[in-house]
Amino acid sequence: MTAVTDFLLNRSSEPRLESPAPDRETLERAFACAARAPDHALLRPWRYLVVEGEGLEALGELFASTCPNNSDAKDIAKLKSAPLRAPMVIVGIASPKVHPKVPEVEQVMSAAAGMSFLELALQDAGFGVMWRSGPMAYQASVRHGLGLDDHEQIVGFLYTGSVSSAKPSVPRPTVDEFVRHWP
Ligand SMILES: Cc1cc2nc3c(=O)[nH]c(=O)nc-3n(C[C@H](O)[C@H](O)[C@H](O)COP(=O)(O)O)c2cc1C
Repeated sequence: MTAVTDFLLNRSSEPRLESPAPDRETLERAFACAARAPDHALLRPWRYLVVEGEGLEALGELFASTCPNNSDAKDIAKLKSAPLRAPMVIVGIASPKVHPKVPEVEQVMSAAAGMSFLELALQDAGFGVMWRSGPMAYQASVRHGLGLDDHEQIVGFLYTGSVSSAKPSVPRPTVDEFVRHWP
């Protein structure tokens, strides 16, 4: 087994994050890794938005805008502060193209694979990462506020920064729980 396999076997998502966020050079390399995602017909059906600084507060306002009018002030405050859990949030967007042989679902899967590669590259560079979604990811007001086109969808929010305290280890399934040889 190679160093890559060892790395995969030891990685974990990290929810407790603080500054500094990934630097420019690390980000560039990580996005270049995202662009290595399997991609049927090379349609490049993904794009990303990097949010930091005051942008995180603006993202929190967008999240809070999804609350119904009669919402509890506590719930609104929680959504407003959600993006502040990390110094940087990367929004992964699936941007499918019309193609005779590649259905939209394959293009969304390609975008999700890109998010995974991005997550792994940032973790390999020593940063903590947590892929989050939540109902906000599917709300029209958030999609429009972030400038998505009608045909696009949010694949997730990648929270990233430096790990302030590592999370306890997560039990992993054994391979025979989810793999069978067929027929
Ligand atoms: C599409 C997607 C959305 C996710 N959304 C959330 C989320 O909103 N909140 C959350 O706690 N974990 C979410 N997760 C799971 C975490 O990213 C993470 O995988 C999980 O906490 C398990 O940790 P591990 O990666 O160390 O196994 C999501 C994962 C995926 C693939």
